[in-house]
Amino acid sequence: MEVIKTVKDMQRRADKLRLAGHMVSLVPTMGFLHEGHLELMRVAKKNSDKLIISIFVNPMQFSPTDDYDEYPRDTEGDLKKSREVGVDIVFMPSIEEMYPENYQTNVHVEKVTRHLCGISRHGHFDGVSTVVCKLFNATKPHLAFFGQKDYQQLTVISRMIIDLNMDIKIVGVRTVREPDGLAMSSRNSYLNAEERESALCLKKSLDLAGQMYEKGERSPAAIKEAVEALIKRHPFTEIDYFSLCDPVTLEDVQTLGHENLLALAVRIGKTRLIDNCLLRKT
Ligand code: PAJ
Repeated sequence: MEVIKTVKDMQRRADKLRLAGHMVSLVPTMGFLHEGHLELMRVAKKNSDKLIISIFVNPMQFSPTDDYDEYPRDTEGDLKKSREVGVDIVFMPSIEEMYPENYQTNVHVEKVTRHLCGISRHGHFDGVSTVVCKLFNATKPHLAFFGQKDYQQLTVISRMIIDLNMDIKIVGVRTVREPDGLAMSSRNSYLNAEERESALCLKKSLDLAGQMYEKGERSPAAIKEAVEALIKRHPFTEIDYFSLCDPVTLEDVQTLGHENLLALAVRIGKTRLIDNCLLRKT
């Protein structure tokens, strides 16, 4: 497994891979790898013959009140896991490499960033779309893999690809969960034992909403009320947003249709967790 630290070296290596006829895939990450990340890599490996992953904790997508400094890091562990999964190249640039002096360019996706996480995390998606665009330019992949756990991120990147005519296929990968249902996330490491217990309210909310939808409930307000009551029964919780929305535009719907996205963000103590599911007619 190669570790590459500069954009120039990465671009030269990417050119060689393409010239040699390889199908190249990229899995962008911020490191502190868990099974969710590894699943993306496994799916990417099955669908291509050279797998690049990037590890870069991107300061531009954290707001000043966010957790950039405390964001967990484990380079040694990440490299070991990457090797075990069969990653070919780890692209691990420094901040100076990605944002050199006098840096002043931004990729801004308009409408789909206005909802859900975009409301409380101002500028977050500009940081995400900008860094992902830069990572694409450095690694030149044919395919790139993103988790459905960050549904809005997947939507924003898919929009950017279409709008900027990028010749890359974006693939969404299912959410990997702990045995008790909690969606895997690097931020789960912030939770103490009691908070970890309360964090189960996210998956329970999705399940409850799914059951109500299956029984024929089509009122977002009724589902919201039931979910809010469920979450309130869990200590240390505060809802950041609850949204039943269109899975493409992410705009709230008045009545549930054949396919709807339920997206949820809940603060558990100081940790903000997100989860989502599709409610669809089978
Ligand atoms: P990070 O949070 O490290 O996640 C990297 C990728 O792993 C994302 O596509 C995310 O959706 C996916 N992922 C995280 N938890 C998952 C889970 N439980 N199941 C499946 N996939 C999961 O998302 C980012 O980094 C950054 O915003 C990034 C795209 C790298 C840009 O900086």
